[in-house]
Amino acid sequence: MKVYRCRICGDPYLGYKAPTNCPFCGAHGRYIIPAREWRDENNIELSAASRKNLEEALKIELSNSEFYRCASARTSNIYLQGMFKGLAKIEAEHAAIHAKILKMDDCADLYHSDACNDEDERNIDDSLIRETNAVEKYKLFASQAVESRVREVFEALVEIESDHILLDQGAKQHLSTK
Ligand SMILES: [Fe+2]
Ligand SMILES: [Fe+2]
Repeated sequence: MKVYRCRICGDPYLGYKAPTNCPFCGAHGRYIIPAREWRDENNIELSAASRKNLEEALKIELSNSEFYRCASARTSNIYLQGMFKGLAKIEAEHAAIHAKILKMDDCADLYHSDACNDEDERNIDDSLIRETNAVEKYKLFASQAVESRVREVFEALVEIESDHILLDQGAKQHLSTK
């Protein structure tokens, strides 16, 4: 048994070998390193632009996490229940990453509930809009970042949210062939 740690979210993973993706934030395998090599890279001075972008990203993640929690609770499809639950946890982890870099302990006041739909199909379409928006915003935020750590985090998130688009496309296909 070994201990690994994710360079993006910082969470530890205990297992026989490194996972292909961080189970907490979804970061790709190259960000998973042996725990002994891990260092806290979040203690950085932020430019005004990055602070503003991280605050916007935090709101996006909180809203998306709440949306997925709602979608998971409402569906009767067992696959979608799992998919939405997994997404809710990952997006909450993303919010925690942004809060850490912003040195915010409590982001409860930013938390707002987002209603989802009753139909799975519409929730998947909404998810596609949310994930596409996140990818576009994070590409822009990465390009605007003067801090290498902030750029790296947004680039990792672009990959993760792009994975979520693929997941949605797969789920849409699965529903249409049912
Ligand atoms: Fe996210
Ligand atoms: Fe996502």
